[in-house]
Amino acid sequence: LVFCSNNVCSQGQFPLTQNVTVVEGGTANLTCRVDQNDNTSLQWSNPAQQTLYFDDKKALRDNRIELVRASWHELSISVSDVSLSDEGQYTCSLFTMPVKTSKAFLTVLGVPEKPQISGFTSPVMEGERMQLTCKTSGSKPAADIRWFKNDKEIKDVKYLKEEDANRRTFTVSSTLDFRADRSDDGVVVSCRVDHESLNSTPQIARQVLEIHYTPSVKIISSSSWPEEGQSIVLTCESKGKPLPEPVLWTKDGGELPDPERMVVNGRDLRISFLNKTDNGTYRCEATNPIGQNSTEYVLIVHDVSNTLLPTTVIPSLTTATVTTTVALTTSTATSATAFSTRDPNALAGQTGPDHALIGGIVAVVVFVTLCSIILLGRYLARHKGTYLTNEAKGAEDAPDADTAIINAEGSQVNAEEKKEYFI
Ligand SMILES: *[C@@H]1O[C@H](CO)[C@@H](O)[C@H](O)[C@H]1NC(C)=O
Ligand SMILES: *[C@@H]1O[C@H](CO)[C@@H](O)[C@H](O)[C@H]1NC(C)=O
Ligand SMILES: *[C@@H]1O[C@H](CO)[C@@H](O)[C@H](O)[C@H]1NC(C)=O
Ligand SMILES: *[C@@H]1O[C@H](CO)[C@@H](O)[C@H](O)[C@H]1NC(C)=O
Ligand SMILES: *[C@@H]1O[C@H](CO)[C@@H](O)[C@H](O)[C@H]1NC(C)=O
Ligand SMILES: *[C@@H]1O[C@H](CO)[C@@H](O)[C@H](O)[C@H]1NC(C)=O
Repeated sequence: LVFCSNNVCSQGQFPLTQNVTVVEGGTANLTCRVDQNDNTSLQWSNPAQQTLYFDDKKALRDNRIELVRASWHELSISVSDVSLSDEGQYTCSLFTMPVKTSKAFLTVLGVPEKPQISGFTSPVMEGERMQLTCKTSGSKPAADIRWFKNDKEIKDVKYLKEEDANRRTFTVSSTLDFRADRSDDGVVVSCRVDHESLNSTPQIARQVLEIHYTPSVKIISSSSWPEEGQSIVLTCESKGKPLPEPVLWTKDGGELPDPERMVVNGRDLRISFLNKTDNGTYRCEATNPIGQNSTEYVLIVHDVSNTLLPTTVIPSLTTATVTTTVALTTSTATSATAFSTRDPNALAGQTGPDHALIGGIVAVVVFVTLCSIILLGRYLARHKGTYLTNEAKGAEDAPDADTAIINAEGSQVNAEEKKEYFI
């Protein structure tokens, strides 16, 4: 008999099987189908060629093997509590003349054991070498091991794969080798095992690191300009494992001289009613079983400040020489290019608060000749009120600042020098 479907013609009386993959301990179903069967017998046999079922008749004494379905079109059996040794090629035979067979490969996955982290000691001193090994046995095929520090993967850690004694499964191990750092204190190191038998639920072993390290100290002052009569709080921020507590405050290498006004509360040193005699070097020392560390703060008690503001403000200038000639300047430096782009009216001195007083003189004492021109300019300024610099001569008639710059005599040197004006 020849059967055809979709232009593919084949002998219809033949067995059909499929490969099966099962996790160790699970149940495997072996199914053999014959689409067209003239009541010919079917049989399943194991990799050792032992007959398991002949039609619906059980042939091998094994409680784990049961019949699922037996008909002229199908012979299905199940193997429960599958062990690694059940793996192999199973054969379904159809007893035609000659006999036709179909092979199904049963793959048994070895489940990795829960991983174990070894080599951990606690606590570890900062700088010491740590070697943590994670190991998992029983996987088939070999499991995948990965390391994480607080959920961040540590890449490129080598792993080792060894065959277990049963010669079927593997022990996979990986060693994380690093130098303990204070930043590792409290970090959770985890070893994660992924395997196809785990149904995408990885096995994870975790270890919290405890790293001991010497204290580090820092003094934070509540005031940047302590004045007489005020109070100040110096906070000694110290870190360390174990935590250095309490901290020790000293002044100029000795005890705090005035316990009435100098009160230590935890990490804070509070000095009230500051007095010039409080000037000095204050030291905070933090000690833990690993070591000690200290830092200093130099206290200078200033006079009570005058309520009046300083009468002259020296602006920041690009050249030191300019300072000597612009004692009266009250506006800060502005570059000539900024003038041309931001405030076209600035050169005319008609609008804009910063430039209403324009009439100043550029002062760059690089060239002696320029100095004398500036002095002339100052003279004219005093007599005529607002005035432009000599360097800007030719710019007065310009319709706008851009043209003014272009019209102005000289080059970039002049443009740079125009930055300072004064009354
Ligand atoms: C195997 O066959 C039994 C009976 O039909 C069924 O209950 C079970 O779910 C099957 N197992 C698998 C893995 O297909
Ligand atoms: C197959 O077996 C059934 C009974 O099991 C019988 O009725 C039928 O005639 C048989 N068919 C052939 C082709 O032998
Ligand atoms: C079944 O498994 C065997 C052995 O692993 C393999 O050679 C074969 O190609 C597989 N057949 C199918 C249909 O996957
Ligand atoms: C003391 O602390 C500072 C930072 O506060 C640190 O740089 C230094 O290494 C520490 N010294 C010791 C001996 O631990
Ligand atoms: C500062 O301290 C000295 C000595 O303790 C004391 O004689 C002086 O009166 C104090 N000055 C003020 C302003 O409190
Ligand atoms: C404290 O420092 C201030 C500012 O430097 C200084 O004027 C004053 O003389 C100092 N007083 C003492 C007692 O050192």
